[in-house]
Amino acid sequence: MRGNGEQPPGRVERARALAAAAGLPGYEVLQYHHTYLQRRFDVPSELDPDGDVGAVGPDLASYLRAEPELTLVAYSPLLTGAYTRADKPLGPAYDLPSVPGRLAALREVAAQTGATVNQVVLAWLMGGDVPAIPLVGASSVAQLDESLAAVDLELTAEQRDRLDQSR
Ligand SMILES: NC(=O)c1ccc[n+]([C@@H]2O[C@H](COP(=O)([O-])OP(=O)(O)OC[C@H]3O[C@@H](n4cnc5c(N)ncnc54)[C@H](OP(=O)(O)O)[C@@H]3O)[C@@H](O)[C@H]2O)c1
Repeated sequence: MRGNGEQPPGRVERARALAAAAGLPGYEVLQYHHTYLQRRFDVPSELDPDGDVGAVGPDLASYLRAEPELTLVAYSPLLTGAYTRADKPLGPAYDLPSVPGRLAALREVAAQTGATVNQVVLAWLMGGDVPAIPLVGASSVAQLDESLAAVDLELTAEQRDRLDQSR
């Protein structure tokens, strides 16, 4: 389920309540944009001209925490390569005071673990208190191998704290 103008989690809750009332299976898997960097929701995206309703924000994160039977699939977790590539600028949605500090925290944890920045992003997503299944894209076997290896990267509590506390 994704954007139709109504803000999540309201529309998710409503759809699940309607399904339950009708005795039908409700949504169990939600696909939203989610990654380590926080983003602005007032900046329109390609799919949402009035501001991005397809990304995980505080309301949806709280709802997912309260409803652990729901599974979050996080699309565009690598920001199409923008974490590491000069040819993929972050864009205006990432013009936030938290971004430079979070990028620095990522680089620090990557250096500590010997993993790449992209792998730290994926490990952070998979191992969080609201775990997400990253829906990565890959244009080469090397990119796919790099992303798959993130499954074996376990962040320590200190490393996760360092990443979470950078705001
Ligand atoms: N539900 C929705 O509204 C929605 C919206 C968007 C996407 N999706 C789904 O999510 C999938 C993934 O989205 P996405 O492609 O935006 O995900 P992504 O994982 O953020 O970006 C994948 C792109 O990042 C680059 N990349 C991947 N690994 C890299 C690495 N190790 N180093 C440097 N660059 C790397 C590649 O770009 P290059 O090709 O330039 O090398 C690759 O095509 C899509 O295929 C789509 O099915 C769903």
